[in-house]
Amino acid sequence: MGNDALTLKAMVASAARLVAFTGAGISAESGIPTYRGADGVWNKYDPSKYADIRYFREEPSYYWNFFKDVRCPVLKKAQPNKGHLALAKLEETDKLSAIITQNIDGLHQIAGSNRVLELHGNTRRILCLECGELYGIETVYRLIETQLPPRCSKCDGVLKPDVVFFGESLPPTVLDEAISVSRDCDLFLVVGSSLVVQPAASLPVMAKENGAKLLILNKDATPLDRMADLVIHESASVVLDQVCGALEKSAIQSQT
Ligand code: APR
Repeated sequence: MGNDALTLKAMVASAARLVAFTGAGISAESGIPTYRGADGVWNKYDPSKYADIRYFREEPSYYWNFFKDVRCPVLKKAQPNKGHLALAKLEETDKLSAIITQNIDGLHQIAGSNRVLELHGNTRRILCLECGELYGIETVYRLIETQLPPRCSKCDGVLKPDVVFFGESLPPTVLDEAISVSRDCDLFLVVGSSLVVQPAASLPVMAKENGAKLLILNKDATPLDRMADLVIHESASVVLDQVCGALEKSAIQSQT
C-alpha cells in the first residue's frame, strides 16, 4: 500500500464522523462511463438536449432513445465494484455517517450501503410526470421495447426517471440532510468526482469550513485539490479496497 493510502487509512481510522461523497468515478470500474474526462458521456451527447428538463418536456423520446441505446446496456450489466463494497463495509463500523452520492445508478445500495443521500435521484425509479405513479426499471425496460416515450398505464402520462435533470432543483430534504452531515463531519472523503457541478460541489467546502479534514480520491485534478488535506490521483476501487482491508485487519489484530 502506498504512502498516500497509508495516510488515508490513518485519517479514516481516527475519524469519528466520516462522510463519503461520490461521483461517477466510483462507478467507472463497474462499466458506467463518467460524464466528463476522456471518454465522458457529455463529450458525445449534448447534456442540454439529453439531460435538460426543458428539452425533455418538449421532446421526451429524444431522452428515452438515449436511455434505451446508451444507458440501458451499461445499467443492466453494472454491478458494485470494490470501491462500493469498501464503503458499505465502512458503514458497518459506524464510522461512516452517510454516503452523499451524485450518482443515479443505485450501486451503493446494491453493495449494501443503507444511509445513501441521492442528490441527483436514482434512475432505477421511474415516475409518471402527470399522476406521479412510480415504476421500477424492469417494467420500463419492457415498456421501451415497444413504446417510446414510455407512458403511464394509469393516465397515459409520459414517464421520466426519478433523476434531477439540468434545470430542475435537487430534492430539498436530501440536500438539507447532505448539508447537515457535511457540516457535522470530521472527515469528508470525495471519491470520483470532478467537483464542477453545483450545489453538490459546495458540500466539501462547507465541510472544510466547519473544521473537517478534506480528502480527495480522484483520478484527475479537481478545482478543490488546493484546499484538500490529502489528494490521491488514483483508482477509487483499488485505494478504497486497500484502505478498508487494512482497517479490517488492524481491527481484528486489536481484538486478539
Ligand atoms: N477512480 C477514481 N476517479 C475516477 C475513476 C476511477 N476509477 N474514473 C474516473 N474518475 C474521475 C475522473 O477523473 C473525473 O474527474 O471521476 C471523475 C468523474 O467526474 P464527472 O464525470 O464529472 O462525474 P461527476 O463529478 O459525478 O459529475 C457530477 O454532473 O452531469 C452531472 O448529474 C451529473 O451527477 C453528475 C454531475
